[in-house]
Amino acid sequence: MAPFVQSNGASILEDLFIILHSQNMKEQLIKIQKQAEREIDSISSLEGLETFRIQYLGKKGHVTSALKKLGELPPEERPEIGEMANSVKAEISLMLERAKNRLKSGEIKKEYIDITLQGRAPARGRLHPIDIVNREICDIFVKMGYRIVQGPNVELDYYNFEALNFPKDHPARDMQDTFYVSEGVVLRTHTSPMQVRVMEKQQPPVGIIAPGKVYRSDSDVSHTPMFHQVEGLLVDKGITFGDLKGTLTGFVHQMFGKDVALRFRPSFFPFTEPSAEVDIQCVICHGKGCRTCGNSGWIEILGAGMVDPAVYGFVNYDPEIYSGFAFGMGIERVAMLKYGIDDIQLFFRNDMRFLRQFY
Ligand code: DAH
Repeated sequence: MAPFVQSNGASILEDLFIILHSQNMKEQLIKIQKQAEREIDSISSLEGLETFRIQYLGKKGHVTSALKKLGELPPEERPEIGEMANSVKAEISLMLERAKNRLKSGEIKKEYIDITLQGRAPARGRLHPIDIVNREICDIFVKMGYRIVQGPNVELDYYNFEALNFPKDHPARDMQDTFYVSEGVVLRTHTSPMQVRVMEKQQPPVGIIAPGKVYRSDSDVSHTPMFHQVEGLLVDKGITFGDLKGTLTGFVHQMFGKDVALRFRPSFFPFTEPSAEVDIQCVICHGKGCRTCGNSGWIEILGAGMVDPAVYGFVNYDPEIYSGFAFGMGIERVAMLKYGIDDIQLFFRNDMRFLRQFY
């Protein structure tokens, strides 16, 4: 039977075949892409990926075969199906690329982890040289029976000056370049205020040392705006200048060695009477004279004296019954002498090459 013929000469069956055929190809292409998506994730080697590539994009691969069939479609259908086939091809190429990267980074990771290598130990924190020396100083006095106390860095003018017998507008206040916080409040310029804070809370006997930070508006090779001091105070019945000399001599001998001589020079501090500055024989040249000691053979390490009765007046101690001594030293200064360091700024630069030397 002759097929039904349309006016343009093409048979309806032929049309139907074309429609079905192009429909079919779209479905085919979608199927190819879906199948590729399913397969790609389970591929675990570069060889597997190559097989996959050949299967889909190779000369006889699924996508290539589909593209070849384009020719069987009528010209007007070709652009749409062709575009779709190309996008499937691009999509699969992208999958391949991603899978390749995934496998490669996995391989790199595999190379990275060598479980036979020793682990890297995390860097261990150590004490700063100032802490080392501070502990050493405190240990010596704790063994002599002193108690460690600490107090505020932001201090009242009353404790920093007034109760230490620095009257207002007294020139002695100029001995220390003070940072003022507000009216009546300063950054403590020394640890001496701890003497008053302790004495106003307890009656003698009192034996304390007070380590901590102090602040002065000053900066050069031997001064930093913040540095550390240790204050000492001993008050009881019958304490004499001889006790002060014995205590400080014992300290210096433990800190610097038994042969190091001490020298007490008369001096002035508002809160001690008599006052002294204590020098030790230069630890660099052993008293012969060098650059560090300015050729004198001696180096100053602390201030000291017998507590001035005026101070007892502020804390209600009876100077007829009690007497005592006080001393104060810079920790950086002790550390510099102990380790032969000529620039105080080194302590605060955080240069590991410097700090590591104290491990
Ligand atoms: N506070 C003084 C200063 O920083 C040091 C000092 C001198 C402390 C004599 C004392 C002392 O306890 O008796 O310069």
